[in-house]
Amino acid sequence: MRINEFLHMNKGDGELSYVQNSFDQNGVWLMNQHLIESTIQYLISKDKGLIKGLNVADLGCGVGHVPLALVSLITEIMQRKFKELRLDSEPSCFLMGVPGSYYDVLFPRNSLHFVHSNFTLHWLSKTPWLLDNQGMSINKGNIHIVETSPKPVVEAYWAQFEPDFSQFLKCRSKEVVTNGFMLLTLTGSPCSTDSLIWTPCVTKILNEALICLISEGLIKEEKLDSFEFPMYLASTKQLEIIVQKEGSFAVEHSETTELDVAPEIEDKLQRPKILTKVFRAYSESILPHHFGEEIITVIYDKFTHYAFQHLVQDKTFEHYAVTVVLEQNCKGVAVFLDFEA
Ligand SMILES: C[S@@+](CC[C@H](N)C(=O)[O-])C[C@H]1O[C@@H](n2cnc3c(N)ncnc32)[C@H](O)[C@@H]1O
Repeated sequence: MRINEFLHMNKGDGELSYVQNSFDQNGVWLMNQHLIESTIQYLISKDKGLIKGLNVADLGCGVGHVPLALVSLITEIMQRKFKELRLDSEPSCFLMGVPGSYYDVLFPRNSLHFVHSNFTLHWLSKTPWLLDNQGMSINKGNIHIVETSPKPVVEAYWAQFEPDFSQFLKCRSKEVVTNGFMLLTLTGSPCSTDSLIWTPCVTKILNEALICLISEGLIKEEKLDSFEFPMYLASTKQLEIIVQKEGSFAVEHSETTELDVAPEIEDKLQRPKILTKVFRAYSESILPHHFGEEIITVIYDKFTHYAFQHLVQDKTFEHYAVTVVLEQNCKGVAVFLDFEA
């Protein structure tokens, strides 16, 4: 089954909602504002006609603050430009929602000037294939890549992420105009890691919680063995390799940001609860799907317990955001058109 058929962020604006627990996604977006602003300014300066209509897509927009903040930012940039050019009118803004997966073509050919995607593309289109010839898991006891993972496990995750990201680029290459831009931010891994192995703290903690629930007889071992957390944390280096290989876009800029969850909170009991809410807001549609609705609160309570253990061992909730700015590559488009002909 495709992940996007059931994956969604927690709805509403209550205590466990995505909107209340997506300050990381919001914070990184705020840090990236200057990149968005300079990209849009550059696009308008190169093609004055864009003042009449600039088409922007926010893919995997979710239900948090980011998509509307993006709309406000672009409207503000356009308003400033209108003033600068002494135009009498105010820019208009038209919004529409497009259902579907960004692993498919969603927009007309050559229609988008700027594509934005924040904290989304690390979600795989489907779970990596991790069964041996006998149908047994080759990642027994784990729900993601860990430091000790055998090579085939690491390769299986890469074998899912690489074509997924490449497929995303292929679809966008049809939709984005020549010399149009994309700004993509993903949950990722530190740029210094050459290896494909990077274990985020949330999957480590969830793994410990699930193993504990198995020992308490509340979850069956096979349930853990048949579950893989469907995301891949790439480094900027890995993204660059895929972009170069796919060929439709060129990397204009890349950066990695180290993050922590609520480092300002000194209370060691409070911080794990915050991490649990953050994790729950984006994972709650996945876990019941596999482990059952009735066990979900127990899983997240156990998660809080192991997040606390993690903190008392003087560990942080370290994680990374990777951002790449890509420009539609004229060469790539020419190759693509030749291919189409
Ligand atoms: C963590 S949220 C990010 C939301 C928002 N961009 C932000 O910064 O707060 C990821 C979003 O991507 C969506 N998503 C995941 N896979 C997708 C796919 N293949 N096509 C479209 N959306 C997808 C999820 O449903 C979710 O709404």
